[in-house]
Formats: sequence, C-alpha cells, structure tokens
Amino acid sequence: MGRTIRILALALLAGLVAVLMLTSIGCSAGKEDAAPPVETPAPSEEPGSGDSGDNAAGEDAVAGACTGCHDMTRIYLQPEMTDWYGIIIQMEDAHGAELTDQEKADIEAFLASRQPTVAEQLIRGKCTTCHDTDGIYDQGDDVDWDAVLQEMVETHGAVLTPQEQADIAAYLKRL
Ligand code: HEC
Ligand code: HEC
Repeated sequence: MGRTIRILALALLAGLVAVLMLTSIGCSAGKEDAAPPVETPAPSEEPGSGDSGDNAAGEDAVAGACTGCHDMTRIYLQPEMTDWYGIIIQMEDAHGAELTDQEKADIEAFLASRQPTVAEQLIRGKCTTCHDTDGIYDQGDDVDWDAVLQEMVETHGAVLTPQEQADIAAYLKRL
C-alpha cells in the first residue's frame, strides 16, 4: 500500500515538474514575441532623411561636394552636436549646393560619426574663449599660421603649450 502511495506521489511530482516547465517555456516564448516591437523603432530615431548612408562614400562626397565654396575647417570645426542634416539642407536651400539623396545620406553618416582630431579639439576648446572660429575661416590660403598663433599667445594671452601650438599650426597649414 505504502509503495503505491509513493509511486502516486512520484507521478504527481513528475506531472507538476512537467507543468512548471511548460509554463516557463510559455513565458519565455511570450517574452521573445514581445521583444522585437520594442527594438524596431530605434533606427528611425536617427534624424534626417532615413536613408542609410555609407561613411567611406561620405568622406569622398564631402571632399568633392562640400569644399567648392569654403574649406574643410568650416565643417570640421563645428561643435560636436551639430545637426548635420540641417546643415546639408541649408547648403542646398540657402547656398545652392547640388547633392543627390545618396550623397546627402553618405555625408550625414560620415560627419555624424567622425571623431574630431586632437588639433580640432584644441581649437574648439582653446581658440574660442576670446572669439569664435570665423576669424580662422576668413584667413586666406597664404596666411602665416605660426605668426598668427604667436600673436594669440604673446599679444592676446592665449594659453597654449608649445606642443599644442605646433599641433594647431600643423593642422591649420594642412587645410
Ligand atoms: C554652393 C556653395 C556651398 C557649398 C557647395 C557648400 N557650402 Fe557650406 N556654406 C556656404 C556658405 C555661403 C556658407 C555661409 C558663409 C560661411 O559661413 O562661410 C556656408 C556655411 C557652412 C557651415 C557653417 C554653418 C553655420 O551655421 O555656421 C557649415 C558647417 C557648412 N557650410 C557645411 C557644408 C557642408 C557639409 C557642405 C557639403 C554638403 C557644404 N557646406 C557645401 C556655401 C556652400
Ligand atoms: C586670449 C584671447 C584669445 C585666444 C585664446 C585666441 N585668440 Fe585669436 N584673437 C584674439 C584677439 C583679441 C584678436 C584680434 C581681434 C579680433 O580679431 O577679434 C584675435 C584675432 C585672431 C585672428 C584674426 C587674424 C589676426 O591676426 O588678427 C585669427 C585668425 C585668430 N585670432 C586665431 C586664433 C586661433 C587659431 C586661436 C587658438 C589657437 C586663437 N586665435 C585664440 C584673442 C584670442
């Protein structure tokens, strides 16, 4: 008699385990079903055209389509949170830049993900305490950057280490 009860109890236990397993599978299956809708909206949070741009193509497009009217410093010295899509539309609407949709998407992708160089960070951080960067863009190609930087330090009191001065001069001369 005691043996039958034990067998019955075991059978009950096994049944209970089976039910528990089924419910937990049911639960995790339910979770998997619910997960995708939460993740899907993320890509559309990207501002802009919605087209996915290609970074490498964007770099080429910037060199080809963005430097006809002003040089790279106008672009690369912009603050980090710049609305690049807005800037690109502004170049088209206000200034007459001609860009295909693909170029716009590529340029936006490239500029949004580009990390500023050390010299660009220095200029953004150290040259804008007294004036904005317009004076830098307004200089002609033949400007003597060593002399300009020396003047900033000696006459105006800009605080730069010799290394920082050299890095900034090298960067500005290259552009
Ligand atoms: C047809 C001429 C032209 C082309 C091409 C052009 N720009 Fe401009 N851009 C201008 C003018 C004009 C200004 C305003 C004057 C200035 O600040 O030098 C300007 C200003 C800017 C500024 C500063 C905006 C601000 O609000 O301070 C940025 C950034 C910029 N351009 C980026 C770009 C990028 C990126 C491209 C390529 C997609 C581009 N430009 C192509 C003419 C052009
Ligand atoms: C301590 C203040 C100060 C700092 C920092 C400073 N400048 Fe200047 N800068 C001036 C003054 C003052 C002028 C002359 C008046 C003006 O044009 O606003 C000037 C003018 C300029 C000009 C116009 C050309 C000229 O020779 O007058 C350029 C270009 C320039 N600065 C670049 C820079 C760069 C690049 C940096 C960063 C390395 C820098 N400045 C940092 C104060 C400063």
